[in-house]
Amino acid sequence: MRIDIITCLPTILDSYFNQSIIKRAKEKNHVDLQVHDLRVYSNDKHKKVDDYAYGFGAGMVLQIQPIDDCISSLKSERNYDAVIYLSPDGTVFNQGLANEWSTKFKNIILLCGHYKGVDERVREHLVDFEISIGDYVLSGGELAAAVVSDALIRLIPGVLNDETSALSDSFQDDLIAPPVYSRPAEYKSWKVPEVLKSGNQKKVEEWNLNMALQRTKERRPELYQKIINPKDK
Ligand code: ADE
Repeated sequence: MRIDIITCLPTILDSYFNQSIIKRAKEKNHVDLQVHDLRVYSNDKHKKVDDYAYGFGAGMVLQIQPIDDCISSLKSERNYDAVIYLSPDGTVFNQGLANEWSTKFKNIILLCGHYKGVDERVREHLVDFEISIGDYVLSGGELAAAVVSDALIRLIPGVLNDETSALSDSFQDDLIAPPVYSRPAEYKSWKVPEVLKSGNQKKVEEWNLNMALQRTKERRPELYQKIINPKDK
């Protein structure tokens, strides 16, 4: 998979993408992650990428010219399956979308908004999907782009080893993951459940499933309803 991220703050993403699972995925060529500085594409002599909003709106707007030129330049080099704009008013991202896109898309562009957002013509003419990572407003789309990238990258076959397998993640089957424990078996008299130490695989699996169901029922009743009543899906 190749992910191109367009942003006016490219260094914000460096630290996250150069650690742990994402770093290893890049090193092993499971993903090609490229961050593009929008300013490089600005025709303005001061490399400005934003300007005042028309009308009486307060705040700055990312202009269409550098965004269009950056997207066009990327598209001249390869085909893209989707240009995705990160915005608080987009469709809320979830594991279902991550699963779908990780199998369907090979090359994607993630466009990060900033300030008051992008010139509406970008959304009308240059973008295929608008995605939010939740109902709150961030200062820019960069964290959202990191969230979407991470969720997609960890689903690429080979990125996770067995221990961290994506199949055992919360939400993979609309269930919240069961609790996990590690050594010591007892700490300050707080004990690991006996069944997990029993070595009985069937019993452990049963326990995990029951705990997952119980947690989902308590913490995410709407997901639980979908599981017990799949017709509502
Ligand atoms: N940009 C600002 N807030 C955002 C959000 N919640 N999701 C995606 N992009 C954003």
